Amino acid sequence: MLKVQIDTRSKSYPVYIGDHLLSRMGPVLKNHLDARAILVVSDAHVAHLYAGRCWETLRQAGYRVELAEIAGGEPHKSLESATGLYDRAIAAGLHRGDAVLALGGGITGDLAGFVAATYLRGISFVQVPTTLLAMVDSSVGGKVAVNHPRGKNLIGAFYQPDAVFADTAVLQTLPEREFYAGLAEVVKCGLIGDPGLFLRLEALSRRSREGEKKVLDPSGLLVKKLIARAILLKRNVVCQDEREEDLRRVLNLGHTFGHALETSTGYTHYLHGEAVAWGLALAARLARRLNLLQELDEQRIIRIVRWLGPPAAPGFLTRDSLLEALQFDKKREGVDSIFVLPLRIGRVSFFRSPPLDALQATFDDFLQGRLA
Ligand SMILES: NC(=O)c1ccc[n+]([C@@H]2O[C@H](COP(=O)([O-])OP(=O)(O)OC[C@H]3O[C@@H](n4cnc5c(N)ncnc54)[C@H](O)[C@@H]3O)[C@@H](O)[C@H]2O)c1
Repeated sequence: MLKVQIDTRSKSYPVYIGDHLLSRMGPVLKNHLDARAILVVSDAHVAHLYAGRCWETLRQAGYRVELAEIAGGEPHKSLESATGLYDRAIAAGLHRGDAVLALGGGITGDLAGFVAATYLRGISFVQVPTTLLAMVDSSVGGKVAVNHPRGKNLIGAFYQPDAVFADTAVLQTLPEREFYAGLAEVVKCGLIGDPGLFLRLEALSRRSREGEKKVLDPSGLLVKKLIARAILLKRNVVCQDEREEDLRRVLNLGHTFGHALETSTGYTHYLHGEAVAWGLALAARLARRLNLLQELDEQRIIRIVRWLGPPAAPGFLTRDSLLEALQFDKKREGVDSIFVLPLRIGRVSFFRSPPLDALQATFDDFLQGRLA
């Protein structure tokens, strides 16, 4: 079992990475959580697969366990779902000293974390991520949120968990598409500040033949190491800037474009990680256009994104709708839009309001299949 310790100003907590943690985390949790009752939150699909094991180990460790199933999918990461969970917490008699445990992907983690942060002004919170994306990204760093009809993650908090258990054995049942979408966040970490991690992924991508991805055993040692490296990178950033006042924004590499892709396709065409994957390629192309990035590095980034295999742009997507979606992101910033752009593999920088013609040309390249 690997362990990464996260020390932020508001909380210190461990992230455990290993196989079959789900059925043996109860006694370990006892060292971190002084609760009597735990509300386990899980979407119906994950609950069906894994809630039994989780329930068993927690009960054996002496916790009173309540299971709350939520509907999966982005539309259900909502205040309405949060209200349903408050009802369950009240009905279960959860007190200040008790806990919420998120068993699932990023949607479950964000929603359950939001409930933990706000119920009785905040109770303990444990993350048991079951997607690769949630293991390397959403379960670490303390961002929790629900969506508002006007936009994603508009209502939320910074609220660190008390412990994270990333059980890589559960990745065996994760659909391959979800796995490679999550890997985009690992590529992102390599690009931001771990060139060795990027090289490792690049070597893997070269080992697979055209169109073939199955070179990674989801619960093998290599994947555990990739997860740990990505978490270490995130830790180093989050520990310096927990509330995204400055440095933490580097983690948004690929996300400004990614959010525009998600918004303008109504959150139906791309998985979050797939939109981020294209976002990395778009950031590379824009950086190249602005002469910030050498062509060779641009090509390496685009090649690895192609290996991840996000779906091509749908026919209805237009340059104008993408630019409009970027405008909304800009309003959220309250200032000029800030892009995180790669300068080379392992180094990024902030760039304020790039020229419109460079943005237009970058989107045209994407829409006309010229990101190759
Ligand atoms: N808080 C943060 O810092 C942060 C960072 C990145 C993304 N996010 C959020 O995360 C969300 C996306 O998370 P996600 O990609 O994990 O999506 P998700 O939670 O919807 O999970 C994806 C799908 O995989 C299924 N699933 C989960 N684990 C499984 C397993 N082990 N086996 C089989 N099926 C499994 C789920 O039922 C679901 O259908 C978005 O809402 C995004 O905004 C948050």
